[in-house]
Amino acid sequence: MKEQLAKIRAEALSAFEGAQSALDLDAIRVKYLGKKGELTAVLKQMGKLSAAERPVMGQLANDVRAALESALEDRSKRLETAALEQRLRAEALDVTIPGKRVEIGRQHPMNIALDELKTIFIGMGFQVLEGPEVELAVYNFDRLNAEEGHPSRDWSDTFYFDQDSRVMLRSQTSPMQVRAMESMELPIRIIAPGRVYRKDEVDATHSPMFHQVEGMVIDKGVTMADLKGTLNTVVERLYGQGTKTRFRPHHFPFTEPSCEMDVQCHKCGGTGCPTCKGEGWIELLGAGMIHPKVLEMSGIDSEVYTGWAFGIGLERMALRRFKIADMRLIFENDIRFLEQF
Ligand code: DAH
Repeated sequence: MKEQLAKIRAEALSAFEGAQSALDLDAIRVKYLGKKGELTAVLKQMGKLSAAERPVMGQLANDVRAALESALEDRSKRLETAALEQRLRAEALDVTIPGKRVEIGRQHPMNIALDELKTIFIGMGFQVLEGPEVELAVYNFDRLNAEEGHPSRDWSDTFYFDQDSRVMLRSQTSPMQVRAMESMELPIRIIAPGRVYRKDEVDATHSPMFHQVEGMVIDKGVTMADLKGTLNTVVERLYGQGTKTRFRPHHFPFTEPSCEMDVQCHKCGGTGCPTCKGEGWIELLGAGMIHPKVLEMSGIDSEVYTGWAFGIGLERMALRRFKIADMRLIFENDIRFLEQF
């Protein structure tokens, strides 16, 4: 029995020392000190010993138990300390590491261009309006003097919501002219930016959704000279003092006379280059004197009041403003592109 105890003692001590975790340690404790453990098994044999041997073995067994218990406690404490140290190391916070940069978004180039335009017009006493993108065909076409049969009303040009073509995605911001005439007191000076929709295929200069800025002035005695003066001022503010414009005759159903305004090419200064396709001029907007019929349809006396209006393509303006070659870049939301502004 003496040898048995010595063997248990030696084995258990080395097992405790080898334990690598609290879980390990507990398994070893059960193996030697548990109710069905090896030491307990030896103690159960005590009864077979002689009266003389019993106290001696009893003392020895108690010594072994005490040694094991103290080794267990010692190992357990050291494992705990090691675990704590490891956790502290793992969770250490190095305040000297440089922080991660937070990416902050910035204004989209088209909104930069729009804000510049708004600032200029607000400075000239214009109000900024917003209106619905889902529009009645009556506002988008009829009240703008584009009656049944006008080519822009074709199903292949326009997104309709219903079979009888009454509700649609607006194809231009011009219906805002009608909405302003209906709801505002005269005189009126407004711009109305927003999205418009047409059944166009996507390419470098087209998108089925794009933005326009509508502008309109109605007052007594307003003339084409006011239109030209205002737009020339806007262009000089946008593109710099001395920028030249050119007004060409054109046709729009809701203006008479109608024109398109070109700006002298910023690249070549008018001599002709790839940017202006050799023309020396770049088309910027459509405009004209509001057709008397359009005024009358919205209840404005065209004998007393006159007005002018224009429509700018905002993407095209932003492309020119920032010298961007392809309109698709405006819509793709590629951060490498957007970061440049
Ligand atoms: N709505 C026209 C278009 O989409 C642009 C336009 C032309 C607007 C002349 C106007 C205007 O207000 O007077 O092509």
